[in-house]
Amino acid sequence: MKKYILALDLGTTSIRAIVFDKSSNIIAKEQKEFTQFFPYNGWVEQDGKEIWQTLQTVIANLMVNQHIDLADIESIGITNQRETTLIWDVTTGLPIYRAIVWQSMQTNDICETWKKNGYEELVKSKTGLPINPYFSASKIRWILDHVKKSSKKLEISNLRFGTIDSWILWKLTGEHKTDVSNASRTMLYNIFDLCWDKQLCETFGIDMQLLPEVCDSSYLFAKTNPNVFFHYEIPICAIAGDQQASMFGHGCFEPGIVKNTYGTGCFLLMNIKDKPYLSQNGLLTTIAWSIDGVVDYAIEGSIFVGGSAVQWLRDSLQIITTSVESESLAKQAKEDHGVFFVPAFVGLGSPYWDNEAKGTIFGLTRGAGKAEIARATLDSIAYQTRDVLEVIAEESKQEIHRLRVDGGASENELLMQFQADITNTDIDVAHIGETTALGVAYLAGLATGFWKNQQEILQYRQVKKSYRGKMSEINRNQLYRKWKKAVAATILFK
Ligand code: G3P
Repeated sequence: MKKYILALDLGTTSIRAIVFDKSSNIIAKEQKEFTQFFPYNGWVEQDGKEIWQTLQTVIANLMVNQHIDLADIESIGITNQRETTLIWDVTTGLPIYRAIVWQSMQTNDICETWKKNGYEELVKSKTGLPINPYFSASKIRWILDHVKKSSKKLEISNLRFGTIDSWILWKLTGEHKTDVSNASRTMLYNIFDLCWDKQLCETFGIDMQLLPEVCDSSYLFAKTNPNVFFHYEIPICAIAGDQQASMFGHGCFEPGIVKNTYGTGCFLLMNIKDKPYLSQNGLLTTIAWSIDGVVDYAIEGSIFVGGSAVQWLRDSLQIITTSVESESLAKQAKEDHGVFFVPAFVGLGSPYWDNEAKGTIFGLTRGAGKAEIARATLDSIAYQTRDVLEVIAEESKQEIHRLRVDGGASENELLMQFQADITNTDIDVAHIGETTALGVAYLAGLATGFWKNQQEILQYRQVKKSYRGKMSEINRNQLYRKWKKAVAATILFK
């Protein structure tokens, strides 16, 4: 057996390559950001070629800067930003349009038409999802329509659709595959029958030839082509959407355990094992992973703007120079600042699902300044998390006393304490911050026997720091009532 597992984390803003040893320690890590395109209001796109080139640079850096010998890699796991949609032509090896990112609202009109046609119930009953531009189906439709209009000749049998995992797998191996967790985010995959849904594909006019083969998450997908992978042929033994991977990395193997990852957005997932149910209050039913044909389901709350609100403070308002500075600035805010910020930059996801909502700030007085805006931004991340947590608790009929967390903002002590305060829930920050990469490394390692089983994996789980709620119930309820008013007003303001 070789020494390491390599996790490739193809995130929304950067590509990371992380090497883990058998005790789950990080041995080496490289990361590189790539370009985000915002061609029009609400549109977010990326360049598929640049994503591939960035990955190659990151692997080269791993070898040169971190002295990793690829001969020591037992297997590779791929995890990725979900839903982001790319279509490429196998004859040229090039995408036919830029990748449309999960956050992009450019397909809103298509979704509105599908809703008007009355497809909502059909879609939800098969996919567990509401009709929304967030998911891949309308993005596929948009690319096909748009490229056709620009009069390029498309030979459908030469085209392939993929989320970013499939694109990179195809570049690395020539295979056109994905896993169930990614397929479950396309709005085309029947999560109960575990297959691409013919009726939905026909309804949306999407040729099934475009779609990748769907496999278990922990599975030998293919081996890397030595010609494109620095002369190495290494098995790719796992693919999983990033939020499902982080759930695996947190060891959420039993029903009822909830994790929250604070990344570009925030994604709360609770394992519901083999008992999928359809949410009536704005949560998604999704596939967590499948191992040896056994599927675990999850219930998910997707918050579109989390860490990206802090980036807005940095890049647009320019009141901080690094995201980390948000904490020290927010600490200077007056305790009773009364400022509320609903960061609906790309509409609102769970549990509201309002694509038209826009970011709104409430409660400004002459005394409010940078510090209060920074504080309201951090608070908004915690309030949105409570919105989702309340629905999860209500629908699952169980009280949630602990939340397992990871991601950049989980380092922010002010935010984590406020998160514990406003939810009255204990917050456990994961010892290994790269929980997403760790999760997919575990899935890859399980496929080859590098790790024996989930029990063994649980031995490595450690909490770095825990936070306990200290706020009085009266205070907590008062603040949360105001937040709900702010959200209601944001939704009204159109
Ligand atoms: O569904 C979108 C999600 O997968 C993006 O995750 O971590 O890149 O914000 P992240």
